[in-house]
Amino acid sequence: MSELNLILLGPPGAGKGTQAERLQDDFQVPFISTGDMLRANVKGATELGREARNYMDAGELVPDDLIVAMVAERLQEDDAEDGFILDGFPRTIEQAHALDRQLSELSRRVTAVLLIDVPDSDLVRRLSGRRVCVKAGHNYHIEFDPPKHEGVCDQDGSKLIQRDDDKPEVIRNRLRVYHDQTEPLVDYYDEQGVLRKIDGTRDATDVHDHIRAVIATLRLEENV
Ligand code: AP5
Repeated sequence: MSELNLILLGPPGAGKGTQAERLQDDFQVPFISTGDMLRANVKGATELGREARNYMDAGELVPDDLIVAMVAERLQEDDAEDGFILDGFPRTIEQAHALDRQLSELSRRVTAVLLIDVPDSDLVRRLSGRRVCVKAGHNYHIEFDPPKHEGVCDQDGSKLIQRDDDKPEVIRNRLRVYHDQTEPLVDYYDEQGVLRKIDGTRDATDVHDHIRAVIATLRLEENV
C-alpha cells in the first residue's frame, strides 16, 4: 500500500483521539485532529481561534469554510505526503466533498474510514470522566484509564484538566450535532466502499488490535 490515508469517524468520546495516538506510532503518519488544531488556535488567541471559540463552547460545529481551509493547508505539509490519520474531519457532507476534491487534485484517495461505534449511553460516561493534559492534550479517564498520579500527565508531567465542552449540557448538544450533521457520512463512505466498522465498546487495547487487523487486511487485499 503506497500511502495510508485514514479517517477516524465516530461520535464524541468514541475514542478517536485515543486510537489515533496509538496508530500514529504504528504507521508513522501524522495524526491530524481538527479539535486539537482549533483548541491550539483558541489558546493562541488567533483570529481563527476567536471565531471558533463560541461554537466549540456550545458544542456546535465551526463553519465549514474555516475548517476546510485549515485542513487543506495542513494536508499540504510534507509530513502528510505518505499518509495521514484524520480525527474529527470531515464532519459534514460539505467537508467530505472538499476533502475528496483536494485528494483527487493530488491523485490521492481515502484508504479507509474507520467508524468507531459506541452507543450514546456509554459516551456520556466517557466524556464526563475524561481528563486531558494542558501541554499536549494526552487523554485519560478517571475510571477507565487513570494516570499513575492523580491530576498529572504520565507522559509529560503537565496538569490534567477537564475540557470546557465536557460539561453535561454541552455533551448532550455535541451528541445531537453528531447524529444530525456527521452521521450521514456513514452512508456516504459506505457507498464509496471504504467504510470499516469497529466495535468501540471494547477496551482501548482491543479496539486498537481490531483496527490494526483491518489495516493489515486492506494491505493484503491491495497486494492480491
Ligand atoms: P473534537 O476535539 O474533535 O471532539 P469530538 O469529536 O467531540 O471528539 P472527542 O475528542 O470528544 O472524542 P474522541 O472520540 O477523540 O474520544 P477520546 O479518545 O478523547 O472537537 C471539539 C469541537 O471542535 C467540536 O465540538 C466542534 O465545535 C469543533 N470541531 C472539531 N472538528 C470540527 C470539524 N471538522 N468541523 C466543525 N467543527 C469542528 O476518548 C474519550 C474518553 O474515553 C477519554 O477519557 C478516553 O480515555 C476514554 N476512552 C477512549 N477509548 C475508550 C475505550 N475503548 N473504553 C473506555 N474508555 C475509553
